Amino acid sequence: MRQIYELIVAMTPAGVIGHNGTIPWHIPEDLEYFKKMTIGGIIVMGRKTFESLPRILPNRIHVVITRTPKIIHPSTTNETSPVYYSTLENLDTLIHQISFRIKRQIFIIGGRDLFMELMSRCSKFHITMVYQNIPGDVSVPELLDYIRDKKNGMEDEVEDERRVSSKSEIEYQMFRIRRKTPIYITRC
Ligand SMILES: NC(=O)c1ccc[n+]([C@@H]2O[C@H](COP(=O)([O-])OP(=O)(O)OC[C@H]3O[C@@H](n4cnc5c(N)ncnc54)[C@H](OP(=O)(O)O)[C@@H]3O)[C@@H](O)[C@H]2O)c1
Repeated sequence: MRQIYELIVAMTPAGVIGHNGTIPWHIPEDLEYFKKMTIGGIIVMGRKTFESLPRILPNRIHVVITRTPKIIHPSTTNETSPVYYSTLENLDTLIHQISFRIKRQIFIIGGRDLFMELMSRCSKFHITMVYQNIPGDVSVPELLDYIRDKKNGMEDEVEDERRVSSKSEIEYQMFRIRRKTPIYITRC
């Protein structure tokens, strides 16, 4: 069973993704999009992003990357939304164990550390560009440089039109970019 990593992010053109441990804009349409894309899948995130979530996200398997994996406490997990802690080195093995019976999409959902560690292994990039000059204390401009660099072999798959959020009046646009030659997750 061949599987790939997909990266999903909302960012400004300057690369801002976070501020004060949270996302510095409110675009309900993007939250809906994130939910639609990731539901039923495996979401891989850094420990700080996990701690920034308002709650465990329903119907998704959570993989939290940390240098000190914890024993899972039963109260933090349930059957449809389990939480696994893993080191980065053990991620591929864990993904194979989780997807042993059912193939699921695997999304790298942030934050900066995880994007930096894993962008070179992702084969699809779901990007919501937030057209606002919003300041932030976490940014990942390297990601845009990476996907635009010709030597990384990307091609556009989908480019939606620019829209304005009904709630916050922020302009945003969704893109999907893929690697011409996918990188498959290898069993360790
Ligand atoms: N706009 C978006 O789409 C988006 C998406 C996600 C997050 N965000 C924002 O991004 C910010 C959080 O991002 P962040 O970059 O500060 O933190 P992060 O990447 O979510 O988490 C960092 C943590 O991940 C673990 N980690 C990182 N590299 C590792 C490695 N090589 N091996 C093992 N563990 C590793 C470490 O956990 P330990 O310290 O436990 O070892 C580290 O402290 C928040 O503001 C959040 O709201 C935005």
